[in-house]
Amino acid sequence: MSSTGQTYFITGGNRGIGFELVHQFAELNDKNIVIATTRSPARSEELVELAKKFTNIHVIDLDVGDEKSIDTIDDQLEKIGIKGIDTFISNAGISTSLAPTLETTSAIYLNHYNINTLGPILVFQKIYKYLLAKETRKAIFVSSIAGSLTNFLPLHTTAYGQSKASLNFSLIQLAKELESEKFIVIPVHPGAVATDMADAAIAHIKEVNPEFYEAVKDSMLTPEKSAEGLVSVIEGFTEKDNGIFYDYKGEVLSF
Ligand SMILES: NC(=O)c1ccc[n+]([C@@H]2O[C@H](COP(=O)([O-])OP(=O)(O)OC[C@H]3O[C@@H](n4cnc5c(N)ncnc54)[C@H](OP(=O)(O)O)[C@@H]3O)[C@@H](O)[C@H]2O)c1
Repeated sequence: MSSTGQTYFITGGNRGIGFELVHQFAELNDKNIVIATTRSPARSEELVELAKKFTNIHVIDLDVGDEKSIDTIDDQLEKIGIKGIDTFISNAGISTSLAPTLETTSAIYLNHYNINTLGPILVFQKIYKYLLAKETRKAIFVSSIAGSLTNFLPLHTTAYGQSKASLNFSLIQLAKELESEKFIVIPVHPGAVATDMADAAIAHIKEVNPEFYEAVKDSMLTPEKSAEGLVSVIEGFTEKDNGIFYDYKGEVLSF
C-alpha cells in the first residue's frame, strides 16, 4: 500500500457499479479519499454504512440532472476540505425506456439527454478546477457500447443509446481541448452488469429477442467484477490513452 493516497470523486455511488467503485477505491488504499455522491443520503443506507466502515469515504448530495444541485458541489467539497481531485468518475446514469424509435416521446429523449449527456458534462465543468489542482487529471465517464455507432445492439435503445453516443461525442472534443493540460479523458464501457438498470434490459431482451437472451443471460458480470476491472484499467490509464473508448477489461472499443 502506497503511503500517499489519491482523491476520487464518483457520481451515483449509492448502488450498482458506482457503489462498488466507491468500495474498491476506498479499500485499495486507506490514504485514498473517496467522495461518493448520491441523490439522497437518507435513501442510501448501504453507502452510509460503507462510509462508517471506511472512514476515507465522504458522502455528498448530488442530482446530476439539476443545475442547482450541481452548483452546491463547491460548498460541499469545501466543508470536507477538498482542494484537489485526482480522478473524476462520472457514473450516474439512467435507462428508463426500451421503446422503439417510433414510440419514444420527446420527454423520454430529453430526460436521457439531461441525465446521461448534459449531467456528466456540467458536473465535469465544476470538477475541472479540482483536477487541475493535481497532476493526475483523470476524467472517466461511464458510457456504454449501447451508444456505439458501429456496434449494433439488438435491443431498442434509441433514447439511452443516443444519450451515450452524444456524451461520447463531447468526450472526443474534451479530450482534444484538454490535451495540452495533460488531462486523460476516457469513456468506459463497464460490461453487461447485473444491476437494477440491466435487469429491465434483460427482461426486455428475453421478450423481443429470445436467441440473444440465451446468448447473454449467463455472461452478465456482477457489479464487483465490473468494478474490479474498471479500477484496474483506470489506475493504469496514462496520457497516451486520452480520448480512447475502453471497456472494463482494457480493450479498445470503436465509437
Ligand atoms: N449495468 C450495465 O450493464 C451497464 C452497461 C453499460 C453502461 N452502464 C452505465 O453504468 C452506469 C451505472 O449504471 P448501473 O448499472 O450501476 O445502474 P443502477 O444500478 O441503476 O445505478 C444508477 C446510479 O445512477 C444514479 N442516478 C440516476 N439518476 C441520477 C441523477 N439524476 N443524479 C444523480 N444520480 C443519479 C442512481 O442513483 P439513485 O439511486 O438516486 O437512482 C444510481 O446510483 C450508468 O452510467 C450506466 O449507463 C451500465
